[in-house]
Amino acid sequence: RSGTISIPVVVHVVHNTDEQNISDGQIYSQIEILNQDFRAANPDVTQVPPVWQPLVADTMIEFHLATRNPNGDPTDGIIRVRTTRSSFSHHDDAVKSSATGGADPWPSDQYLNMWVCQLRGGLLGYAQFPGGPPDTDGVVIRHSAFGNMGTVAQPFHLGRTATHEVGHWLNLYHIWGDDGQGCSGDDKVADTPNQGGGNTGMPTFPHISCNNGPNGDMFMNYMDYTDDAGMMMFTTGQSTRMNACLEGPRASFLI
Ligand code: ARG
Ligand code: ZN
Ligand code: CA
Repeated sequence: RSGTISIPVVVHVVHNTDEQNISDGQIYSQIEILNQDFRAANPDVTQVPPVWQPLVADTMIEFHLATRNPNGDPTDGIIRVRTTRSSFSHHDDAVKSSATGGADPWPSDQYLNMWVCQLRGGLLGYAQFPGGPPDTDGVVIRHSAFGNMGTVAQPFHLGRTATHEVGHWLNLYHIWGDDGQGCSGDDKVADTPNQGGGNTGMPTFPHISCNNGPNGDMFMNYMDYTDDAGMMMFTTGQSTRMNACLEGPRASFLI
């Protein structure tokens, strides 16, 4: 593909309280952050260690709130649904169906469905990888980790949960390869260093694991688990993998 692609997004705000019924402004802030992060236009990209600056990728993938609903009528791309459920969990996907107190997806081959709600425990968000069932396809984000204003709570207040989850939606794995603390997990991306487990908080460079010195873990990657302020890049290899997904299992978004 030459040029950018812009993916239509529908945001389902499934709220049990007025506070959870986040503002349009909070939703716009998240779309803006996604566009910055996926285009390497995020101001904090300068904090990537110099040794990895050459790997910082502009994925050429953008996002916009849908302007037409599935019937072809004008929409602002925001659906607001009141629920009697006080929180949701990733175990049953209840937020993704009106029959279980959530909101039904729009056709997931044409829209990126984002459900915003209260999640159980400390879960910030979760995603469905490409190739799964259409009626649960999309990402779910905790309202207090969505965008960078309104109900957001530190240290997940900069919109990076959606960046991370949309990375999964476009087929990226966690950078440590999901093998616990082991050194054999693989994210299937060649230019990300092999690393032990996920990193949390705000690590300092270099953080070495799995004999990956001198530069160590690429903990500032969106697919690690640091605080929002600690993550600021996708690599060229990750960009290639996401764009391959858009040529393959998610090719319906290209037309
Ligand atoms: N699924 C992960 C969780 O809930 C998302 C982590 C996103 N990280 C972040 N800094 N926003 O823990
Ligand atoms: Zn993840
Ligand atoms: Ca790797």
